[in-house]
Amino acid sequence: ATADPAAPGQSAAPARSVTVRVPAKVNVQLAVGGSRPDGFHDLANVFLAVSLYDHVTAAPDDVLRITVEGPDAAQVPLDRGNLAARAAIALAARHGIEPRVHLHIAKDIPVAGGMAGGSADCAGALLACDALWGTGASRGELLEICAELGSDVPFSLVGGAALGRGRGDRLEPLGTGGVFHWVFAVADGGLSTPAVYRECDRLRSASGAGHTVADVPDPQPAPALLAALAAGDAVALAGALANDLQPAAVSLRPALAATLRAGTAAGALAALVSGSGPTCAFLAADAQAAGAIARALTASGTCRTARVASGPAPGATVVPR
Ligand code: C5P
Repeated sequence: ATADPAAPGQSAAPARSVTVRVPAKVNVQLAVGGSRPDGFHDLANVFLAVSLYDHVTAAPDDVLRITVEGPDAAQVPLDRGNLAARAAIALAARHGIEPRVHLHIAKDIPVAGGMAGGSADCAGALLACDALWGTGASRGELLEICAELGSDVPFSLVGGAALGRGRGDRLEPLGTGGVFHWVFAVADGGLSTPAVYRECDRLRSASGAGHTVADVPDPQPAPALLAALAAGDAVALAGALANDLQPAAVSLRPALAATLRAGTAAGALAALVSGSGPTCAFLAADAQAAGAIARALTASGTCRTARVASGPAPGATVVPR
């Protein structure tokens, strides 16, 4: 049930509404530092936005209301804990207005899949409400609200490619010299991001290395990886992909090892877990190879579904009416 990018959710929305399209991400490098006293981890997080999109439509309503459509809709919380709802509440509070809005999410990004689907809805809702309410927030204010709401939310707003430092929310844009083709193997059921970070800490401690900021070296982006992105060189990027959360995700979901092997056997240049998982990402040489890998993954029975996408993709964008 892929959303139609030309007219998402418009059948359900009244005339005065704003729709924002917002991309998923893959982390081409996720270097995780030690756990900080506040429970977060310092990161060197190299994000690439990819062409799987959610669409968030904001329309006037008497109360704050969320609806979701799409294959994973039942897994999305509809209360005020929903990140899209929190975005509306945060923007309204700053401007002294009530968050009276119906947010409709046409969901195509896997839920709890390590592809920043919740962060995408958050950034999308923020941009859509800003346009609907005419609050006229500056880019800086929007980014500040995003960072308050989640580590990956600022990147969902800006898209493209970027290096995230700190919790991953302090962004430096990165240049890319070409388009990278990917296949995403979507698993049955999600993984909890905090649980995956905890498992990373546990594995580090069990290995005797320790898991605090005193024990783990400062995370740094790999120069070879940044060079491969800048050059648009898929083979070089394949050699540099790295995710420090992968052992933790595979430890919590051992079946992912078979998914990673199936994509590699089908000709992927490289395979890795996307963010905190359980979605697995496969870098392909070109669009045709990506199609073949997706078909092989689907046939392998090691994932629920396989999706083809490319990146970099633009960040959150208002869809012209
Ligand atoms: O910021 P966000 O809400 O996306 O983070 C979800 C959880 O992921 C945090 O509560 C924390 O457990 C973990 N996390 C972390 N270090 C980061 C980002 C997230 O430990 N840099």
